[in-house]
Amino acid sequence: MPPRFCAIAAAALCIVVRLPAQRIPKTWDDAALATSQLKPPIAGASIKPVPASYYYKTKERVLYRVHPVYSSKTEPPGYLDKLAQTEPELTFNESNLKTDQDWIAAGREVFRYPVNTGPASETIPLFRGVLERCGVPPAKDGTYPQLGIIVPRKGVVLAGFLSCATCHTRIQPDGSVIEGAQGSLPDTILGFPPELEKARTFQLALYRVPWLKSDPINRVRTMSVEEISAVKAAIPLGVVARHGSSLFTPVQIPDLIGVRDRKYLDHTGLMRQRDIGDLMRYAALNAGTPPAGMDMFADYSGFVPIETISDGAENTLPAPETVERFSDAQLYALAKFIYSLTPPANPNHSSPLIQRGEKVFAQEGCPRCHTPPLYTSNRLTLAIGFTPPPEDSRSPDILRISVGTDPDLTMKTRRGTGYYKVPSLKGVWYRGMFGHSGWCATLEDWFDPRRLRNDYVPTGFKPFGARTYAVRGHPFGLDLSREDRAALIAFLKTL
Ligand code: HEC
Ligand code: HEC
Repeated sequence: MPPRFCAIAAAALCIVVRLPAQRIPKTWDDAALATSQLKPPIAGASIKPVPASYYYKTKERVLYRVHPVYSSKTEPPGYLDKLAQTEPELTFNESNLKTDQDWIAAGREVFRYPVNTGPASETIPLFRGVLERCGVPPAKDGTYPQLGIIVPRKGVVLAGFLSCATCHTRIQPDGSVIEGAQGSLPDTILGFPPELEKARTFQLALYRVPWLKSDPINRVRTMSVEEISAVKAAIPLGVVARHGSSLFTPVQIPDLIGVRDRKYLDHTGLMRQRDIGDLMRYAALNAGTPPAGMDMFADYSGFVPIETISDGAENTLPAPETVERFSDAQLYALAKFIYSLTPPANPNHSSPLIQRGEKVFAQEGCPRCHTPPLYTSNRLTLAIGFTPPPEDSRSPDILRISVGTDPDLTMKTRRGTGYYKVPSLKGVWYRGMFGHSGWCATLEDWFDPRRLRNDYVPTGFKPFGARTYAVRGHPFGLDLSREDRAALIAFLKTL
């Protein structure tokens, strides 16, 4: 290389190295929040997030190193005692984060951070026991990435869950781990207070929908603790009764790989994703502040869920200094990590069957909604019985048809909007439990026309107490010949 060119190259390198500091969006920007959420499907109902003045008085979380939780067979002897001898180690230091890679690595720590912990000697046997009983295998290295241990002071070893990884990490049957994918999590691990009155109040805080005349969650007012446990135990792996959905209408855990390309978040499209700031807002609203996220502090037509379960005076928010959350920098790192996620190598390669399946996909009109290359049009469809308000009717994002699936999640929960979004079909080869409540364990079941019959026994979720259940709607691909169906499924497994 001639010397002059070399000097220019070196100067260019200098410019690259001296990147401006990362501009971190403000998470709780009142104006951005006000326009980020879609409205409930009932006229007059409203959701008002807690104001920024409150949010920024809550405590920023200090992050300690996350140590692994081992399965009972692989835990090294004396593991917890050794951890008790270690000094606390802080992991998140914004001033050390220079490159994108630094931010992504720091974001991974946030993703794995257990925000709900208790003494390790008590919580580990408890959580591990649930995973073992429900047949969730540990990862190949003998750990459970859904759980984590922190040492906030020498001698204090805490273990727990409710990290993003708890629900958004998939362990395949061979023990391989897919970070960000639909988690293999039993709902029962999420637990609830064991005393009857508290158990009921807790369910009402998570799921009450104040604008409904007849709210399905009112059923818990007469249920016993055992009955509530039984409802949770009947929910299949990969589906959870997320707060704001319903104990009786749980929701499929979505795959976060590729989430950057999605215009709307949640099956109901509740939250817009216009930029990385909206993903940070989604994370703060939905997680990071036990028992859930800051949406529990929002005012739902006069009902503020957190006020019904916090220890403070009635009808007041908990004192902000008692509430912990992630900092803006931590959420920014988390969002960058989520945007960096990539799928595992797909083992399904081209074959004559797959080529035939691609043709079936086109002939059946699937690309109209599951449009390549994202395999979603990023549009919203109408739930049965929903008429969009006039202000929505001009939106190009709204497809004025209904695919006819069960309307309850979007008509009768706090996450409801009246819409269901068109999900991306990418990654269907490594996940399971299809449909917004995960009624069908496999693609074969999703495309089985018998699922429309009243005597059908779903392989995934069915309403509590039902022996049989018709998995309604989404009639596409149901009247294919055996060969075409097999070809279509083979093609979908390449995406
Ligand atoms: C208790 C389980 C659980 C935990 C913990 C959890 N999530 Fe989720 N997450 C879900 C479920 C279930 C949904 C689907 C909700 C819906 O569609 O209504 C979801 C939806 C999402 C979505 C929307 C994706 C899409 O395509 O619609 C994002 C983004 C997300 N979660 C990020 C996070 C992050 C970041 C964290 C940690 C700060 C986190 N989640 C913690 C269960 C969980
Ligand atoms: C009119 C729009 C539309 C058309 C056409 C359509 N889909 Fe869908 N698809 C949807 C919507 C909306 C959902 C989510 C429904 C729900 O869960 O309530 C969905 C869900 C799915 C799912 C489940 C995904 C998951 O993660 O749970 C699969 C698989 C699927 N579609 C495949 C297909 C195939 C293959 C075709 C063509 C034979 C097709 N779809 C045609 C709109 C459409």
